Amino acid sequence: MAEQDRAGAARLAGRVGRMAPSPTVSLDSRVKELRSQGVDIVNFTAGEPDFPTPEPVKEAARAGLKAELTKYAPVAGTPDLRRAVADKLARENGLSYDPAEIVVSFGGKHSLYNAFMVLCDPGDEVIIPAPYWVSYPEQAKLAGGEPVFVPTDPDRGFHLDLDALARAVTPRTRAIVLNSPSNPTGAVLSRQEIEAVADLARRHDLWVISDEIYEHLVYDGREHVSIAGLEGMKERTILVNGLSKAFAMTGWRVGYAAAPRPVAEAMTAFQGHVTHGLPGFIQAAAVAALQSPPETVQAMVREYDRRRRYVVERLRSMPGVRCAEPEGAFYAFLDISALLGRQAGIETDMDLASHLLEEGRVAVVPGTGFGWPGALRLSYATSMEQLQEGLDRMERVFRALAGA
Ligand SMILES: Cc1ncc(COP(=O)(O)O)c(C=O)c1O
Repeated sequence: MAEQDRAGAARLAGRVGRMAPSPTVSLDSRVKELRSQGVDIVNFTAGEPDFPTPEPVKEAARAGLKAELTKYAPVAGTPDLRRAVADKLARENGLSYDPAEIVVSFGGKHSLYNAFMVLCDPGDEVIIPAPYWVSYPEQAKLAGGEPVFVPTDPDRGFHLDLDALARAVTPRTRAIVLNSPSNPTGAVLSRQEIEAVADLARRHDLWVISDEIYEHLVYDGREHVSIAGLEGMKERTILVNGLSKAFAMTGWRVGYAAAPRPVAEAMTAFQGHVTHGLPGFIQAAAVAALQSPPETVQAMVREYDRRRRYVVERLRSMPGVRCAEPEGAFYAFLDISALLGRQAGIETDMDLASHLLEEGRVAVVPGTGFGWPGALRLSYATSMEQLQEGLDRMERVFRALAGA
């Protein structure tokens, strides 16, 4: 349906029509439909940890409920929580933020939305390296900005193409979005790459929105580098992070941003008119999560790493599949372009994802949704048993397609 018709038919605002439909919605509903018919589906689409939320976090929430922390809470976060975030940024990232520069929101997603809303005027360009997390372009557009996509280099594990990034800057560029470790590719940017982006931002007076939500999930001794720590960057960075991925707390909706004070105040004012602050008992639980011993997260990271190795080895042995080494996060991003056009009806990554679901009973996300056709994303945030079974199923489908 044409953009205007989609919005016009129901008399909705133009921004509704300009919003791309979620790449997973139709797949998700088909997964649910098949499951309701009793079909056993292995689901590799979920971007969420399969671990339970740590017990001390749940205990802190229960204590918060007992203490009646159930009324309106401060919009940007309780003093305790903002302090706990500032302490975390100092301890783990070597960054010095005042609690007044921290804004707690309903998930990293909400923090990102606040960031786009306070930075973008209509027509401002936002540079987004591709493949990208699905919500960046939509949020930038909702804020009036114009996404400008810059492909990364698939032959170098989807690391940044720094020349292309520099060429994408125009007088209208307002911000660059960084996401390291990356969803969907797992690329972890090196210090050198981050320095090059910082250099670009300083030279052209740009903001950097740095989404660091997967920061703990890095493998093989890699280091997460926060761009806010580089010379002259704190004053032009909105750092976004949250508890969803590191602490298996997706449903709790705790995200935060660290930004220069006027930006943090603008985000708080904006949020105050839209959602207010997180429930008090959840803020109390968030403090407990941020103060938990590092081993809580490290145990999960070790398990993801074990799965990652298994998944990559299996995928690389399959015909028609190329899989870059995921250096962080919990996704494998596979190039399946060699499998397309071999059988009638399987011309695109979306066709192949549907075929995998219908024939193989395994669900993955097509790359098109991440701005990268010809690929599929698989999440390994699921049990080894499920991984084994799902990869067996994928292999059968791919072998049949490749005629091997
Ligand atoms: C790259 C990236 N950023 C942000 C988010 C938002 O996470 P949340 O809103 O749960 O904090 C996600 C979730 O999938 C993500 O993958």
